[in-house]
Amino acid sequence: MRVLAFLDGTIADPETPLIRADDLGLLRGDGVFETILVVNREPRELGPHLDRLARSARLLQLPLPGRGEWETAVRAVIDHWPWDDEPELSLKLVCTRGVEGSDVPTAFALGNPVGADTRRKRTEGVSAITLERGYAPDLMERAPWLLLSAKTLSYAINMAAMREAEARGADEAIFTATDGSVLEGPTSNVVLARGRTLITTPPSSGILRGTTQGALFRAAEKAGWETKLERFPVEDLFTSDGVWLASSVRLISHVHTIDGTAVKFDPQLHQEIVDLYESNY
Ligand SMILES: Cc1ncc(COP(=O)(O)O)c(C=O)c1O
Repeated sequence: MRVLAFLDGTIADPETPLIRADDLGLLRGDGVFETILVVNREPRELGPHLDRLARSARLLQLPLPGRGEWETAVRAVIDHWPWDDEPELSLKLVCTRGVEGSDVPTAFALGNPVGADTRRKRTEGVSAITLERGYAPDLMERAPWLLLSAKTLSYAINMAAMREAEARGADEAIFTATDGSVLEGPTSNVVLARGRTLITTPPSSGILRGTTQGALFRAAEKAGWETKLERFPVEDLFTSDGVWLASSVRLISHVHTIDGTAVKFDPQLHQEIVDLYESNY
């Protein structure tokens, strides 16, 4: 089951061809996207997702349709989703630069069911391997044309890293910078706990500012935890009290193994972290 909507709220058959062969999103991956979890008709972190979509578009100097239009498309997908059969949906918002020379972006919202593998990772946790990402954590400011921190449609590297992880028998990858510090996963942010402090890599390292990590930290601060955005080396993953990958649809998965070595896992702490995140909704 999938539901496709345009930004005026019209619904289309997702099986119908939609993209022209000369669309720059298709030819060059020139566009931006977001993936949002919707539970029982309620989109989670919609504001932060739309803010991030706008930020990504600015970095690409891409003309983006207005926020109200995106909200219309989101509502249209939600209104047409079979909630009685599927209590959750993964909602993609996509905007490409459109066809060459037109100045008219291609934009749509597409709702998909949440897959079994994603559900498994939520409950069973994941194994991960570290993979080099090949850039320095201070590169973003020096080289804005590299579009670090933008959520662009050019996700071929991220998907290749996931395949590399799977080929080596792991569920997930964790990217590292040239200085050995931890960046992010190909589709997630890395969070670790040290006592009553939660730590994640700062967006200034060229990573995506995570809406899930943001929601977790928001709730944790309210509950009296300390939160920190700071760079940390791979070794810290092994000395922390727990490591999680946070992402919109996968939610907060605990990491039980990194590069074949077990990392600390406390089921009670994990439940507390998950409950903190869920307390937002
Ligand atoms: C590269 C990258 N980092 C982090 C995240 C996590 O972001 P969010 O929690 O907003 O889904 C994603 C999400 O897909 C991502 O692609």
